[in-house]
Amino acid sequence: KDLFIGIDLGGTFVKIGCFNESMEMLSKISVPTDDQHPKVTLNSVVNALASLVRQAGLQLENIKAAGIGCPGVLDTKKGVIITSPNLPMYKGFAISRFVSEKIHAPCVLENDANVAGWGEYVLGAAEDVDDMVLLTLGTGIGGAVITDGKLIHSAGNSAAELGHIIIFPEGRECGCTQRGCAETYASATATAKRANEMLEEGAVSSLQNIFIERGEVSCKEVYEHAAQGDKFAYEITELTAKVIGLLCVDIFSYSNPDKIVFSGGMIAAGQTLLDRISFYFNKFIRKDINVKIEFCFANLREDSGIIGSAALARDTFCLV
Ligand code: BGC
Ligand code: NA
Ligand code: ZN
Repeated sequence: KDLFIGIDLGGTFVKIGCFNESMEMLSKISVPTDDQHPKVTLNSVVNALASLVRQAGLQLENIKAAGIGCPGVLDTKKGVIITSPNLPMYKGFAISRFVSEKIHAPCVLENDANVAGWGEYVLGAAEDVDDMVLLTLGTGIGGAVITDGKLIHSAGNSAAELGHIIIFPEGRECGCTQRGCAETYASATATAKRANEMLEEGAVSSLQNIFIERGEVSCKEVYEHAAQGDKFAYEITELTAKVIGLLCVDIFSYSNPDKIVFSGGMIAAGQTLLDRISFYFNKFIRKDINVKIEFCFANLREDSGIIGSAALARDTFCLV
């Protein structure tokens, strides 16, 4: 038995990867997420797994362990999803048992951002430090906190839900039942949503053409138009950077990481995104101490979820 499986459950796609013990990727695949029927999704995951393993010239029997990265607050001991703001139908789903019974191998469940953080810590952008934080900027904002080389979970399993740190009390509505959480302003989805709302109200912008034609613009398009000098698009991206910068200040006060690593779809925006986050971080950070911190992008890019969950499966079930 020498195969490790990493599963990254996302709002639109589930990515699955097959790795050897040194975390070299043998094959990967992705299947669409059915946000209404968890079992439909998980059945296609297991089918995809079987073909993946075959592609690698192996069999399901070769799987030593699997890791699943999943958005939301989880009971990691029981392998159950407690709540997932962006995948409400998955609430209560005993996902680990479901997968484990089908593949006849142990399965570890961990928050999606936590696994991505673990991946970057063991083999990515934060390999060289012991204190790091990862922020995923995608459908929501996820967080992972690694302190003294340990991934923090804490009492109720809801540690490192960094996207739900409230930035504007009584602000925009969040899937977590509160208002004003960082992710309601600065996730990729929220950035696009803010732009779309204002385009609907007639904002003057080069994005109007796309908006009129398609009824909506994407976060990627907002960043593209900002880079081309559209003032409206730029202002939308500035609020995103400001909220993330502020979030990083709060994170610094809490765990003082050497590095904050960014992952998720929004990092396609590139260096300007990091520069603007640093700008707001420097603006809001206390000035009475010597602050040392580095902002960077995830190395494992779009694979950090699958690599991280496979690495976590290895590190949980067979310490190497
Ligand atoms: C969830 C987190 C998750 C993040 C990214 C948030 O809405 O609460 O658990 O890590 O989205 O998917
Ligand atoms: Na987390
Ligand atoms: Zn929230």
